[in-house]
Amino acid sequence: MQRTTDRPSSSADAIGFHDQLAISWSDNYKKPSFVRRYNAFAELLPSQDLTGERWLDAGCGTGNLSRLLLDRHAQVLGVDGSAQMIEQSKQLNCNRANASFQQITSLTDWKWQGELFQGVLCSSVLEYLDSPSGLVEQFSKMIVPNGTLLISVPNRFSAIRVSQKITHWMSSKFCKRSFPSYLDHSRTDFSVARITNLLKSNSFRIELIKNFGIPAARYIPESSWLSPLLLIRARYCSK
Ligand SMILES: C[S@@+](CC[C@H](N)C(=O)[O-])C[C@H]1O[C@@H](n2cnc3c(N)ncnc32)[C@H](O)[C@@H]1O
Repeated sequence: MQRTTDRPSSSADAIGFHDQLAISWSDNYKKPSFVRRYNAFAELLPSQDLTGERWLDAGCGTGNLSRLLLDRHAQVLGVDGSAQMIEQSKQLNCNRANASFQQITSLTDWKWQGELFQGVLCSSVLEYLDSPSGLVEQFSKMIVPNGTLLISVPNRFSAIRVSQKITHWMSSKFCKRSFPSYLDHSRTDFSVARITNLLKSNSFRIELIKNFGIPAARYIPESSWLSPLLLIRARYCSK
């Protein structure tokens, strides 16, 4: 893993940042880039029908990807550190009997005590945590043997991510505010080797890694050097 800068940010700051985005976060899913995010996760789900499966949406935001799981008949628990995100999740999914949403202090020190999950989905969350590796270790304790982990993380070698980091660094030096502002909090990015090693060292077997997230993907093909996100499907192989 590579810290993007040495800024003194923390998980609590990242949650506060997302509190402010919560009211309009779900609207992002009307944009083409987020529709592609939704479709990318949909394609990687292990089955069209998740009836009888319990899934966790870790860092669920406004529950848009929870709905993808609910549409496939899974029973879904969405957790997030942001009270505002959870409030929106509850409002937007109030008609879903199989859904529950819960605010937690932080995924970093959340210890799940309930039944194991058949699957965990974690979209664009790891990079905001003080200890991304600690959460992957937690996931290995929450998933049934052969259960699924679907996870997306920033691609460290993406030209888009690198240019955003340069812009962020320059603006932090020369402007009143640094931009893009999410990089104040999105502190970790991953090479394919790093995320592979992290998952393998926690007994996950990688099935597939996909590059995605180019804003103009209708015109430019996704690729390892350009796409800002890595989407991974892995299976938990018990020790
Ligand atoms: C970029 S948003 C992604 C939301 C959702 N997964 C999606 O893809 O639409 C990151 C989410 O992670 C949550 N988050 C960040 N740090 C967290 C932490 N330490 N504990 C729990 N949730 C956290 C934020 O509140 C936010 O909802």
